[in-house]
Amino acid sequence: MPLIIAHRGASAYAPENTMAAFELAYRQGAGMIELDVQPTADGYLAVFHDDTTERWDGRPRPVTTCRLAELQALDIGGERVPILEEVLAFAATTGIALNIELKAVGIGRQCVHLVRQARLVDQVIVSSFVPVALREVQTADPVVRRAYLMGTRTYRPDVRLRELWPFLALRRFAVAAWHPSHELPLVDRIIPLVRKAGYQVNVWTVDAPQRMRQLAALGVQGIITNRPDLASATLA
Ligand code: G3P
Ligand code: CA
Repeated sequence: MPLIIAHRGASAYAPENTMAAFELAYRQGAGMIELDVQPTADGYLAVFHDDTTERWDGRPRPVTTCRLAELQALDIGGERVPILEEVLAFAATTGIALNIELKAVGIGRQCVHLVRQARLVDQVIVSSFVPVALREVQTADPVVRRAYLMGTRTYRPDVRLRELWPFLALRRFAVAAWHPSHELPLVDRIIPLVRKAGYQVNVWTVDAPQRMRQLAALGVQGIITNRPDLASATLA
């Protein structure tokens, strides 16, 4: 059965990227939590998805220009923005694995430092759409597992080409895993080839039971979902 990876926590039921969503994901049987990380203006690694705070306070302030206190003053559906250390502590206590997505460059070393300090290197994979961010992690500690993310929202021809034939990028960025959108063109044909080439494949973001079953049959190791409970029931 594929690993159930809770996308921003159990975010179909609890405010995304909050401790409430991570705790619920654990209770719903997820084996791993996916979370988004960005730097604050005062040097913390905040768990936050969007580029700006607009979705939560109506003000388009870039997250990286906010201090942690400003981010933690936001009302995230009744919850507050955590920092990476809190999620690492939760993972250390519960044993749940983490998929830490770096949304920015310049924080790879700090992320690795915190993961090592928490003694969680074996429990963590660091993912990113940004090759430079993955390179920073590799430079800081090549033992930390890394995953290259691919999506469907870019029209850059070079990135589009990588999506159709990801092998060159996977080798070039020296990652252990490929994290494609399940909606990438031809992805169902490419997944078995990437698996055969020895890469781990974790697919996002899959909330429909039928699609979960299809991807499991293709041999993916992980399914990233907003609904860990549904994935548990579907894939068990
Ligand atoms: O890990 C996959 C997924 O989280 C990437 O997209 O926008 O939800 O961070 P996004
Ligand atoms: Ca993410």
